[in-house]
Amino acid sequence: MPIVLATIERRIGDDVLEGILHCQEPVCRQEYPIVDGIPIIVPDVAKYLGDFLWHVNARDDLSAPLETLLGDAAGPGSAFDTTRFHISSYVHDHWGEFDPREAPSAYPSGAMGRCLSAGLDLLGSAGPDGPTLDIGCSVGRSSMTLAGRRTGLVLGIDLNFSMLRVARRALTTGEVVYARRRIGLVYDRRRFAVPVDNPEQVDFWACDAMAMPFAAKHFATVAAMNVLDCVPDPRGLLMAIGALLMADGGAVLATPYDWSTQATLPLGWIGGHSQRGAMEGAAEPQLRALLAAEASQTGLRLVGEVTDFPWHVRLHDRSTVVYSGHLMGVRAV
Ligand SMILES: C[S@@+](CC[C@H](N)C(=O)[O-])C[C@H]1O[C@@H](n2cnc3c(N)ncnc32)[C@H](O)[C@@H]1O
Repeated sequence: MPIVLATIERRIGDDVLEGILHCQEPVCRQEYPIVDGIPIIVPDVAKYLGDFLWHVNARDDLSAPLETLLGDAAGPGSAFDTTRFHISSYVHDHWGEFDPREAPSAYPSGAMGRCLSAGLDLLGSAGPDGPTLDIGCSVGRSSMTLAGRRTGLVLGIDLNFSMLRVARRALTTGEVVYARRRIGLVYDRRRFAVPVDNPEQVDFWACDAMAMPFAAKHFATVAAMNVLDCVPDPRGLLMAIGALLMADGGAVLATPYDWSTQATLPLGWIGGHSQRGAMEGAAEPQLRALLAAEASQTGLRLVGEVTDFPWHVRLHDRSTVVYSGHLMGVRAV
């Protein structure tokens, strides 16, 4: 049943900043909030708000000194500290190339973007016309890149509301503001302009990749950059992507198979276990088997791959993690 915009509480032109969506089914009438222009469309809104309420209510108007004081007080490992740490790493990679204060580095930002572009090249032709879905879009650069490479609407989805807020700010203001980690609890406020070519083509929603609220065969292109090893059911995500793609639609997948039990229980891992089994614990052959056209369990077929695409994530001034990502272009069977 389609979801409709029931009330608008705050808007700027066509941009709804606050409102309520609801399910049209009379016995359901499930309500979904729109906060700061970001619709929250997840199966269990109450649970989402229970888990993410402080992200949703977080303020972004504090001066840099006050923000660092809060960070010191909250301390290492707090939700505040973990969030700004993740945002520091992902903004650096997604948007750092536009930061005039960013010094040349052996690990320049833009690794995910290079990986995504190479993945789109693996797909070759753009395929059918239609919208694009960017799963696990984080702070939004991939969605903007996709808008430059595809003609239709691009929707970036992620569960992390704080990251989506950064993405939306870049989209609507052409400005990125973030706390860039120097070392430990020491963060520097960075603020810089970023180019946004077709803002009307892009939107960001809070959705769960494990329960995506879209009709089957709706998307011409899907990207899932470094997400497969972050969800509870990686095979389920592949099947969902297969179901969402139009006939001959294409998807770009990248993963460093960086499995952790925080995200995925070992039985859900693709590789990384069963060392004495037929595949000796290797991940790549298992994923290829899931994408084998003749017996595809996922509705996807592999059309091209790079087994060792570099993806690096800056942690602080003296630390960058270098991953070797498995990059794949796949098409709907
Ligand atoms: C490793 S990061 C990769 C971010 C970005 N795609 C990139 O490559 O730079 C994984 C992203 O997936 C998001 N994520 C994790 N589980 C998710 C889920 N179930 N639904 C939607 N997004 C999810 C995280 O919040 C995070 O932004």
